Amino acid sequence: MTVIWNFPTRTLFGEGALSEIAAEASHLGGTRALVVTDPGVAAAGIAEQVREALAAGGVPTRVFDAIASNPTDEHVLQATAEYKAHGADLVVGVGGGSAIDVAKIVRILATHPEPLAQYDDGAGGTERLTAPFPPMIAVPTTAGTGSEVGRSAVATMQATNRKTIFFRADLIPNVALLDPELTVGLPPKTTAATGFDALTHSIEALCTAMDHPMASAIAREGITLCARFLPRAVSAGDDIEARGAMLKAAMLGAVAFQKGLGACHSLAHPLSTELGMHHGLANALCLPAVIDFNRTVAGAELAQVARILGARGDDDETLAFECSGAVRRLRAEVGLPESLSAAGVQEEVLEQLADLAFEDPCHSENPRPCTREDLLTLYRASF
Ligand SMILES: NC(=O)c1ccc[n+]([C@@H]2O[C@H](COP(=O)([O-])OP(=O)(O)OC[C@H]3O[C@@H](n4cnc5c(N)ncnc54)[C@H](O)[C@@H]3O)[C@@H](O)[C@H]2O)c1
Ligand SMILES: [Fe+2]
Repeated sequence: MTVIWNFPTRTLFGEGALSEIAAEASHLGGTRALVVTDPGVAAAGIAEQVREALAAGGVPTRVFDAIASNPTDEHVLQATAEYKAHGADLVVGVGGGSAIDVAKIVRILATHPEPLAQYDDGAGGTERLTAPFPPMIAVPTTAGTGSEVGRSAVATMQATNRKTIFFRADLIPNVALLDPELTVGLPPKTTAATGFDALTHSIEALCTAMDHPMASAIAREGITLCARFLPRAVSAGDDIEARGAMLKAAMLGAVAFQKGLGACHSLAHPLSTELGMHHGLANALCLPAVIDFNRTVAGAELAQVARILGARGDDDETLAFECSGAVRRLRAEVGLPESLSAAGVQEEVLEQLADLAFEDPCHSENPRPCTREDLLTLYRASF
């Protein structure tokens, strides 16, 4: 059964929700679609499934599957060229955060002139986004970034090798199709890593200082779903209830982080751009140290997290102290490495990573301000 949510994106959730895609395309006025995806999702047969579902509903569709995990501006340019060559008027992002983010940025270049760098949100580029975007449908095949309900998109600019954020409130896809069947083939390690991205979004969003009770409530539910269902989704990939719950958790995490993120994401970004590490794994490796660092200022929130993760304690102080351990236990349970060194990171790169982490904007939302030295200490504590 498909249920429909409008908070904040029109979201169709349920097994077989993909079958609704052509009707959704038509509602949006889409007559020709470009599917943006990556080789792994294409090899899993999912891109072809989406193409067929659109074609069956009378929407001629071209598939562009040449993007990479941690995509760059080059992938965006190639995908935009395909969009224009196909005469498309609808963008469909099919895959994890990488594919969905490239699809979102194609919407920018479909209606705005190059170069892409001028739209970098961190450099005031959002003001240059003046034209409307073509409509977009997002079909997540991982449960992590929640990009399908997010207003921003991330790509690495080759000129600077930095993860660059593009943002406008209506960059949020018009429709998200959350079909748990499409995540069943996601391997256990990627399931675990992407699930930890979702968990990190909710924990950082809960702890950031901005007063946003709605986002905080959503973050708590996101953490609850991760605690309950991530181990099941990892150990039994065909557990549809767990897969569906993790799609919900990813969506909740991304809605929650409208409130803000924190130091963990600043530490994670250079691990991806410099070392090619998966974004969710990078978060998983750094999260416990960030939790300990934030305990003095976000103790009440971390106590809530610890309680949800099953830690015991009579008061908030004890529970907040237990929080990082509870996260480490969940990380071990889902089979992720326990440290940066166990994940193959060399100690001599930490200084350079700390420089880059300090330049990353996310830590400005951390509840406890961070110096470059603090970030280096957090890398060392995660090593
Ligand atoms: N826009 C946002 O708000 C936001 C938030 C966090 C992260 N991100 C970005 O998202 C990206 C990470 O996204 P991700 O974690 O979803 O990973 P991903 O999109 O890079 O995918 C990871 C791997 O899983 C494979 N895969 C995906 N679905 C599959 C399936 N169903 N079956 C088999 N294989 C499958 C892909 O081929 C790929 O190799 C990063 O670039 C990150 O910067 C964006
Ligand atoms: Fe993230």
